[in-house]
Amino acid sequence: MTDATLTESRDEAKTAEWWRQAAVYQIYPRSFADANGDGLGDIPGILSRVDYLADLGIDAVWLSPFYPSELADGGYDVADYRNVDPRLGTLDDFDAMVEALHARGIHVIVDIVPNHSSDQHAWFQEALAAGRGSEARERYIFRDGKGPDGSEPPTDWVSVFGGPAWQRVEDGQWYFHHFATEQPDFNWNHPDVREDFLKTLRFWSDRGVDGFRIDVAHMLTKDLTEPLPSRAELEAMDSTTGVHPITDRDDVHEVYAEWRKVFNSYDPPRTAVAEAWVATPERRARYASAEGLGQAFNFDLLEADFDAPEFRAIIDENLAQSRLSGSSTTWVLSNHDVTRHATRYGLAPLRGRDVKQGTEWVAAGGPADMLDRDRGLRRAKAATLLLLGLPGSAYLYQGEELGLHEVAEIAPEQRQDPAFFRGAEFDGLGRDGCRVPLPWSADGVSFGFGSAPAHLPQPAWFADHAVDAEAADPASTLSLYREALRLRHPLQTGETLEWVETGRADVLRFVRPNGWQVVTNFGTEPFDLGADAADVVLSSAPLAGSALPGEASVWIAPASLLS
Ligand code: GLC
Repeated sequence: MTDATLTESRDEAKTAEWWRQAAVYQIYPRSFADANGDGLGDIPGILSRVDYLADLGIDAVWLSPFYPSELADGGYDVADYRNVDPRLGTLDDFDAMVEALHARGIHVIVDIVPNHSSDQHAWFQEALAAGRGSEARERYIFRDGKGPDGSEPPTDWVSVFGGPAWQRVEDGQWYFHHFATEQPDFNWNHPDVREDFLKTLRFWSDRGVDGFRIDVAHMLTKDLTEPLPSRAELEAMDSTTGVHPITDRDDVHEVYAEWRKVFNSYDPPRTAVAEAWVATPERRARYASAEGLGQAFNFDLLEADFDAPEFRAIIDENLAQSRLSGSSTTWVLSNHDVTRHATRYGLAPLRGRDVKQGTEWVAAGGPADMLDRDRGLRRAKAATLLLLGLPGSAYLYQGEELGLHEVAEIAPEQRQDPAFFRGAEFDGLGRDGCRVPLPWSADGVSFGFGSAPAHLPQPAWFADHAVDAEAADPASTLSLYREALRLRHPLQTGETLEWVETGRADVLRFVRPNGWQVVTNFGTEPFDLGADAADVVLSSAPLAGSALPGEASVWIAPASLLS
């Protein structure tokens, strides 16, 4: 295939609709690259790796929060929405990074965290100082406690990270926090809150940001009219009614309709993708509407086993939903909140999301006992090729292109995730294991991440996955991702697929309208590709003659492109 063919298809993606089938690479800034040698990744670090991102062939980057933060929740506790954490750089550094990425044709998406701020945010500090009954407390959710002296929390609700969802302040009032204690929830009925986020969206849009990822988009609006339900009553409530007290309320879409007006006041319109953990695909589609955020994460594959019928059902359901909403769907196998997919797929008995296994896995004295690393990676590569071949946008998480496994070897005192300390499940260990800084070189104090030890410990086996080692190896996971992302541009035209029956329940095969085909063998028995083997342009494992081995995927190019 000539480079001209590839460039042509890539140009087609440079329109206002660029996001529909984009490959978006998630950067967790504190763990990507450290330019100033303080052990924490930063914006100049990202700037120094723009060539790497361009060579990878992605269409956009999504940056997890880089705003000033006390890091009570990895930056998802924002103290100032319109600035850069001084440890990560300056606004000028941010502008330079955006310019360099745009110069390479890479769009920039930033994370907006509207449900809660940090307790260090000026408004929360003002609320604490102003005392009970003050106007300043109205921007958050303050209540008096129960019991004769108000010393019991207003309800027995628990936070997502474990432990009570209410925290008492000095003068005896309580505030609501869905997540960590340091993350007080905003009161979205307050006009200041609504106005301030519009200002934040304009601020970053004016700086050239192309889109936004909206953190827990389903949680913002609440109805906390007394009497409040108990935890048991709350958990028993149907969350699909649109009037649940704290989640997925219909009135949240009034907020996003306002945001849409801001997005559409730019040329091209800014885009948004909702992180919305809601009960049904129908409820999710509301976040993806063109009058709202425009797109919503579909996390179904991330929660699925490596299983052909399960994958097929999920793909069908989400493509049907995107036809209804008019949006395109989003495929995700890994992000900063879940165990890396190479590890999930390598855990026996192969239900990677089983919380107890995560705990036993470490308790058993290390990965070797329970984790089949090779199998996990083999399946991860097969699943990724399938994912990149699907209609819709694909979200990749930093480090998966290196075939990284979850890092289990982090001592409790080195962990940072509040979910670990507050006892929430998240696979038993919290989320630090997928947030360990990237290995750029096979040696050096932090494998090339920076000149100081990294803020989370990197294991010795990171050397085998370092960028410099993998870049030089045509059989590496990195080489597979690069080639897949290059070929993905001509593959991604049209937003449909047709299944081709394979006669095997564990083999999926589909064809795109332009003739590209993807075949994935979820089983362990080889699958014969027959004469099509000659048109295979990409394969997650070497073919044996015309046989696709078990736990592997191939892409077959249309004959017209090959001639
Ligand atoms: C989202 C983020 C997660 C964060 C939480 C609270 O789920 O992805 O990392 O802890 O929101 O902001």
